[in-house]
Amino acid sequence: MKGVVLAGGTGSRLFPLTKITNKHLLPIYDRPMIYYPIQTLVDAGIEDILIVTGGRNSGDFLRLLANGKEFGLKHINYTYQEGEGGIADALNLAEHFADGQKICVVLGDNIIERDIREAADRFRQQPRGAHILLKEVHDAERFGVAEVAGDRIVGIEEKPQAPKSNYAVTGIYMYDATVFDKIKTLVPSGRGELEITDVNNAYIREGTMSFSHLDGWWTDAGTFESLLRAANLAAQSKQWKPAVPVLQPGAGRSAQI
Ligand code: G1P
Repeated sequence: MKGVVLAGGTGSRLFPLTKITNKHLLPIYDRPMIYYPIQTLVDAGIEDILIVTGGRNSGDFLRLLANGKEFGLKHINYTYQEGEGGIADALNLAEHFADGQKICVVLGDNIIERDIREAADRFRQQPRGAHILLKEVHDAERFGVAEVAGDRIVGIEEKPQAPKSNYAVTGIYMYDATVFDKIKTLVPSGRGELEITDVNNAYIREGTMSFSHLDGWWTDAGTFESLLRAANLAAQSKQWKPAVPVLQPGAGRSAQI
């Protein structure tokens, strides 16, 4: 399975922080936001990764991430989204990269405490379709919300005023290669974007959508409140690995590990 990080958009809800840089380059505690979704993919055993970005600061991603050495990668792929067509439009740019294989897509502002290895392994075994991760939240109206009946999802509503459940659809999606055919049938939503929720509903109608519940904390970071929350959660997380080599107490510079 290959990995895709979606890191485009204008970040308008974080203006003026995003006036001169891309949202996904902003700091979350001790590292740039985009480090987290890349680590999520690497921790799931995914090493072939595409970054989809856009806008005026897209070149900064190359300078920051280069070939992914910090993540133990040999190479990172990049592509450029023109305009603001939404999440599904950005994902459409991954068709050539996917080359018929399954993909795991992570939104660039989604930050998790643990890992998605179990869900990824499960989807590797699933013959076809899609798999999404749900998280119970208190503010479901901010997200895509899944209506669940037993072991299946009946439908997903994007930012409903009256959510049918507390299960938010996290920004971590696993798809088979038919995702690109589904994207091509979409029409823009009320906010003028191709919605990832419409892609997921296409899999639900087809009867090939599975789901699991995400362990540990999860947050997005696209508003001032969630950006602060993400930084605090990341700082408090005991399991988090240091971004840069740590100087051991009492050791000289040459003894850095
Ligand atoms: C997007 C999706 C939404 C999902 C959320 C997760 O919303 O449209 O379904 O729950 O990401 O972060 P956005 O925050 O980009 O509007």
